[in-house]
Amino acid sequence: MTTIDGRHHDAPLDSRLLAEISDQGLRVARVDEGSRAQTDAWLEVVSRGFLDGERTDVQRDAFFAASAYRRKLGVYDDAAPIPEQPVATFASWTTELSTPGDRLTACAISSVTVAPTHRRRGLLRSLMSGELRTAAELGLPVATLTVSESSIYGRFGFAPAVPAAHWRIDPRRAGWRGPLPGGRIDFLTREQGRAQVEVLHDRIRPARSGEVQMPGGHWDRFFGTRPDVEKAGETRVLQYRSAEGSIDGLALYRVSENHDDFAASTLDVVQLLAATDDAYAALWRFLLSMDLIGVVRASELAVDEPLWWMITDQRAVTITLRDHHYLRILDVPTALAGRRYDAADTLLLDVHDPLGITGGAVLLEIGNDGTAAASPAPAGAQPDASLGIEELSALFLGGVSALALARAGRLRAADPHRIDRVFRTSSAPRLSFWY
Ligand SMILES: CC(C)(COP(=O)(O)OP(=O)(O)OC[C@H]1O[C@@H](n2cnc3c(N)ncnc32)[C@H](O)[C@@H]1OP(=O)(O)O)[C@@H](O)C(=O)NCCC(=O)NCCS
Repeated sequence: MTTIDGRHHDAPLDSRLLAEISDQGLRVARVDEGSRAQTDAWLEVVSRGFLDGERTDVQRDAFFAASAYRRKLGVYDDAAPIPEQPVATFASWTTELSTPGDRLTACAISSVTVAPTHRRRGLLRSLMSGELRTAAELGLPVATLTVSESSIYGRFGFAPAVPAAHWRIDPRRAGWRGPLPGGRIDFLTREQGRAQVEVLHDRIRPARSGEVQMPGGHWDRFFGTRPDVEKAGETRVLQYRSAEGSIDGLALYRVSENHDDFAASTLDVVQLLAATDDAYAALWRFLLSMDLIGVVRASELAVDEPLWWMITDQRAVTITLRDHHYLRILDVPTALAGRRYDAADTLLLDVHDPLGITGGAVLLEIGNDGTAAASPAPAGAQPDASLGIEELSALFLGGVSALALARAGRLRAADPHRIDRVFRTSSAPRLSFWY
C-alpha cells in the first residue's frame, strides 16, 4: 500500500522552478489535496493530456478519494479563459523499488502533461528538473516512471531499465511439459481476490527487482472494485491454493469473444501473481488449457519467463519486447550501495550527469557477501568505467549487460567484461503494471 511520505509530499517548490515559470508569466503551485475544485480541474487537464474525454462525476469522486498520496503540481496561466485549469501537470510520490537483493526508496512520477497551447516552451524541462532536484535534496536516491513515448525522458537522465515482454500464445499449439503441481485452482469473486492481493504482492515484490509498490487505487482498478471502472464484471479471478492450504497465486483475466469463430476467443491475462513455482506453473497451465480460447495474450512479463521452458512448442508464442520501467539515479553512491552483487570487486566509476544532480567519480567496493559500499572518490584517478547517468541507470537493475552498452558506444571501459560481471544479475528485472 502506498503511504504518504509527508516530507516529499509537502516539500516546498524548487526556487529555480518557481523563477523559470514566473519568467514565462505563469504560476506553478501544488494542488491542495483537500480542495475538490482544484483536484477536479487538475484531473480534467491530465485526462485531456492523455487524449481522454471529460471526466464523469463518478470518475472525479474516485480520483479524489484515491489520489491524496500524490504530490500534484500545476502550472497556471491566469490570462487563460479557464484559469483554474492548469496548463501543465506533474505528480510524484514515494514508493519502494525492489533492487537485486535489496530495496530503495524511489520517487515515482506520473501524470506529466503540458497543454498543446503551451507545449515546447520548456514547461516539462522546468517541472522535471525542479522536481528531480527536490527529490534529490530530500535524499531520494532514484526516480522512476512509465512512459507514453520513449523519446522524452533520456534527456533528463532516465533510462529504460526494465524491459517488458508481451506474449501472444496459440494455446492449442503450445502444449505443456511443465510441472503438474498438486493444489487446486478455484474462481473467486473480484472482492475476494482484492482482499487477498496485497499480502500476495508483498510476498512477491521483494524478490523481483524493478517492481514497485502498487500505487493507491490501482488494485481496485484491476479488480474492478472501485465505481469508476468500466466493464468491471468482465474480469475473472482465479486463485491457486497449495496442497498444504497456502494461497500462493492469483490470476486475473478477461475474455473477448470471436464472433466469427466462437471457439477461437481471446483471453487476456490481466495479472498473474505467483509466490511459488507451483503457483506459477498451475495458473499458466490452467490459462493455456481453457476451452473456446484460440489466443492467450499477456503483457508486462519478464524477459526470462520460465513459461518458455514449460511449453512443448515455442513457436506457438510470439514475443514482442518493449521499453517499460524507466529509472533515473539521483544519488549514485546511495543507489549503488542499495543492491547486492554476485561478484566481489572494487571499481572506480566516472559518471556524467548533464543535469548536475549527481555523478562524478565514485568508488564502488563490493565484499565477498555481495554487499557494497560506495563513496565519492577524488577526481583525477583513472576510472574503470566512464558512463552517463542514463547508462548507469540502465545497468543498475541488470536489465542490460555492460557489454552491450560498451558495444553500443555508450560506456567506456578498459575491460567491459569486468563491469559486466559486477552488474549482471541472475534474474531479469520486471514491472508488472503501468502507473
Ligand atoms: C511530452 C510533453 C509533456 C512535453 O512537454 P513540453 O513542455 O512541450 O516539453 P519541453 O518544451 O519542456 O521540452 C523539453 C525537451 O523535450 C523535448 N520533447 C518534448 N516533448 C517530446 C516528445 N513528445 N518527444 C520527444 N521529445 C520531446 C523537446 O524537444 C525539448 O528538447 P530539448 O531540451 O532538446 O530542446 C507534452 O508534449 C505532452 O503533454 N504530451 C502528451 C502527454 C504525454 O505524453 N505525457 C508524457 C507522459 S509519460
